[in-house]
Amino acid sequence: MIRIFPSSRFTSLLSAAKPLRSFACSSSPTREPPQCASFAEKKSSPASNSLSFTPKTPLFLRPPLHATPLSEVWKWHDWAKDLASSVEDSSTNSEDSLDSVVLLRELKWLIEDSIVDDDPVIHRREIGDDCEKSVKLRASLEELYDLWRQRIEKRRPFQYVVGCEHWRDLVVCVEEGVLIPRPETELIVEMVEELVTRDEWYKKGIWADLGTGSGAIAIGVAKVLGSRGKVIATDLSPVAIAVAGNNVQRYGLQGMVEVREGSWFEPLKDVEGKLVGLVSNPPYIPSGDIPGLQAEVGRHEPKLALDGGIDGTDSLLHLCHGASRMLKRGGFFVFETNGEKQSKMIVDYMTNDLKDTFSDLRIVSDFAGIDRFVSGFRL
Ligand SMILES: C[S@@+](CC[C@H](N)C(=O)[O-])C[C@H]1O[C@@H](n2cnc3c(N)ncnc32)[C@H](O)[C@@H]1O
Repeated sequence: MIRIFPSSRFTSLLSAAKPLRSFACSSSPTREPPQCASFAEKKSSPASNSLSFTPKTPLFLRPPLHATPLSEVWKWHDWAKDLASSVEDSSTNSEDSLDSVVLLRELKWLIEDSIVDDDPVIHRREIGDDCEKSVKLRASLEELYDLWRQRIEKRRPFQYVVGCEHWRDLVVCVEEGVLIPRPETELIVEMVEELVTRDEWYKKGIWADLGTGSGAIAIGVAKVLGSRGKVIATDLSPVAIAVAGNNVQRYGLQGMVEVREGSWFEPLKDVEGKLVGLVSNPPYIPSGDIPGLQAEVGRHEPKLALDGGIDGTDSLLHLCHGASRMLKRGGFFVFETNGEKQSKMIVDYMTNDLKDTFSDLRIVSDFAGIDRFVSGFRL
């Protein structure tokens, strides 16, 4: 059985969430319109597409096929605890080391996702004499040993290990090839909720979530729009498209969220000028900062989801232009940025280079007080 741990479950990646360090933007405010090669709509590879990719089943949804003696589970648990406790002693790079407190919390969650038991016996050692008891696991013990080694030795993100992430009131499936949705991104949905609560007009029209990844934002937006809502979620990555489609299906939102594969606005030609809302958390990390990312992020999360070009704004600038074409008059947009200078740069760009196109441009802070989002309305 899965338990919902609001936001605290994010802790392991929160410190690694974009940005792990504060990324300096060395961008100049004067720019060419984004029609040059790096901004152009990229073509998805014909060799790979979402239809040929089957998303993995997360641990908590697997059938409990593995009856295992409790004594063996304890043995694994003690080994996993020892390994988690030993990481700080063996860590050489203090800036990017594992935290044993976080690991022990993850171990508890791993057990809860693996064992079919409302009150996992593994946490009640006092029934220690009952060594004959066996429990049903959703993964073999051999796999659990392997998963925990991957978490610690390979720095595989915990969310990829268990195959899901808790985000707002959702549990979204994730796996390699798809960005793990971050807590600060939840604010995009909060902003949409605030808007549609104030003004019903936004509930009736079409929204788009560009670069949808796991589909978390699109699903969150669809839920706040209610039954009349319609969200088109796009991504260039076939893996993201397959995973997002699967998440949409798990929440029974196929009638409201349509997932389309392709680069940015390319799959949205039929709704040009018709959107009432446009949201995106695009790749925005400057290319030069990628090698300095926390191991979990840099080694495992898809570069396509992270790398925003030289100063991190390639995709953002492309989205600014597209928003002017795609939104109806009065249409709302919100984009996540790397924060601070990057947000300011986007507002300056929209104010000066896309003059008289948008109104009420705002920079909105995230939970940590970082100027993370840019929002506004199409004039
Ligand atoms: C930072 S991730 C955000 C994922 C998800 N929206 C979230 O917040 O968790 C950026 C997403 O943009 C997608 N992406 C990158 N380039 C793209 C392009 N040219 N067209 C569409 N999507 C793109 C990536 O595959 C990735 O899923």
